[in-house]
Amino acid sequence: MSQNEMNTTDADEDDALVSPQPGAVVDDDSTDTAGPETTLVEARDLDVFYGEEQALDSVDIEIPENRVTAMIGPSGCGKSTFLRCINRMNDLIDVARVEGDLLFEGKNVYDDDVDPVALRRRIGMVFQQPNPFPKSIYENVAYGLRVQGRTENLDEKVEQALKNAALWDEVEGRLDESGLDLSGGQQQRLCIARAIAVDPDVILMDEPASALDPVATSQIEDLIDDLREEYTVVIVTHNMQQAARISDKTAVFLTGGRLVEFDDTEKIFENPESDRVEDYITGKFG
Ligand SMILES: Nc1ncnc2c1ncn2[C@@H]1O[C@H](COP(=O)(O)OP(=O)(O)OP(=O)(O)O)[C@@H](O)[C@H]1O
Ligand SMILES: [Mg+2]
Repeated sequence: MSQNEMNTTDADEDDALVSPQPGAVVDDDSTDTAGPETTLVEARDLDVFYGEEQALDSVDIEIPENRVTAMIGPSGCGKSTFLRCINRMNDLIDVARVEGDLLFEGKNVYDDDVDPVALRRRIGMVFQQPNPFPKSIYENVAYGLRVQGRTENLDEKVEQALKNAALWDEVEGRLDESGLDLSGGQQQRLCIARAIAVDPDVILMDEPASALDPVATSQIEDLIDDLREEYTVVIVTHNMQQAARISDKTAVFLTGGRLVEFDDTEKIFENPESDRVEDYITGKFG
């Protein structure tokens, strides 16, 4: 840890996890998708190894705030690994080793003074398989707030999170029922409600719709479209049409853990720079 990073350690609020980025562009229109972009998450020369095996190789990327960024690429190219770097979920994998910088609001999340639990409060995650807790619908959503002792106006907060996750209309009046009794698509929206209840800045989603039927998938896609107003979404998907439909930016990873191209989604799908990217998105390999 460098000397000038020491002065953030006495922060007593979770939100003070990181210091403001010197010289960061202040963008009052950041919720307007047509407005200028502000970088929220940035990787610089990021490598990840699992033991001897390298899973990410020199990844550089600037992920903009209040946008949906899609990560696509063939199986094993490191998409989930990259997602897990952002909120340090790779810490939970013994053999994983990260080199290079992963910045959140300009602060390296791997600095010694960063508390991974506080980081994950600001950067939530939704997984491929819906994983509600074996608790009531209400308690699933209230969980993170209870852990943080933020129980004032709990009913209101739970209701708001369920509304933001587009699930309220389907569960109002049966909040005491088990989250496990919901359909797969409802369970996934419950997990999204659980993730947004604690009011994070970023939501990471690893193939959130791949286990769902087309109707539930389209509900999740509509939801993601709304989420960008308040959150920064980074989503891994194997579904090219989905990436093209829902994302503002697309990152294409290819074999060897290299980020081959990152640009506006339209550009990636209509006129990519790299022939390998073109081959991949037109289905010639992968
Ligand atoms: N926990 C782990 N231990 C060891 N190696 C791992 C681990 N997780 C991933 N890897 C390896 O790292 C590489 C990248 O894996 P990762 O899961 O990030 O790929 P992915 O792009 O998400 O693939 P998929 O599309 O199949 O989900 C692969 O070679 C994989 O075998
Ligand atoms: Mg994966």
